[in-house]
Amino acid sequence: MAQLILFLLLVLITCNTISIAYPTGAPISACQSMKPGHVGVYPQSKPAPYIMKINSSLYQPGKPIQVQIQGPPYRGILLQARTYSKPTLYGTWLEPPNNTKILACPENTLGSITHSNTNFKDQSTTYIWMPPDSSCPNVLFFVATVAEAFNIYWLGVRSAIIFKDPAVGCSNSVNTGQSVFLAVNSGTAWQPALIPVMCLQLVLFLLFGHFEP
Ligand SMILES: *[C@@H]1O[C@H](CO)[C@@H](O)[C@H](O)[C@H]1NC(C)=O
Ligand SMILES: *[C@@H]1O[C@H](CO)[C@@H](O)[C@H](O)[C@H]1NC(C)=O
Repeated sequence: MAQLILFLLLVLITCNTISIAYPTGAPISACQSMKPGHVGVYPQSKPAPYIMKINSSLYQPGKPIQVQIQGPPYRGILLQARTYSKPTLYGTWLEPPNNTKILACPENTLGSITHSNTNFKDQSTTYIWMPPDSSCPNVLFFVATVAEAFNIYWLGVRSAIIFKDPAVGCSNSVNTGQSVFLAVNSGTAWQPALIPVMCLQLVLFLLFGHFEP
């Protein structure tokens, strides 16, 4: 009996935790890790069915680059421009396409884009990125977490590399790089509203399954 109550309590706590939902976009806490943080839900280990398409392999200040994600329709997204072995988010996202929004990560408040609802986005969803004016790394790439559904997502979906156009200037002052402040916050999720319902059903099942005469 005591064990059952303990178990129910655990289920309730878990359900309550994962009910803190992010159907309206990735949270600030995902800025660095890019992990949705679904409780008990792990990224897919098989290769992502997504290809990130970009319209240029060179970048230069003032010239926007277009990014599209080809593959099955997806519901959740967190998209950033990065370079190797640095936590810096580069550049800024312009006008977010329908069903998406800017995620104001600390230090680069325009450097991430995420979903604003769980409607499907697809390969016609076009993200426009403006390169930085200074501290341009020699190479950049776009990287995304793409969620097809609450429990199906891929981390580290990457574009091809984009090189800094050697023909144009970009001041290389070191201090304007915008690094991400890391706040670890596990136990929260981007998720459709279904989960609380499932949790409630689980709790009811456990209660009534065990207490029924
Ligand atoms: C890529 O797309 C952007 C936005 O549509 C456009 O402004 C830019 O000129 C394009 N670049 C190339 C190299 O086609
Ligand atoms: C975005 O949504 C608006 C309003 O629903 C619609 O008029 C517009 O055509 C949509 N744009 C795209 C690119 O789908």
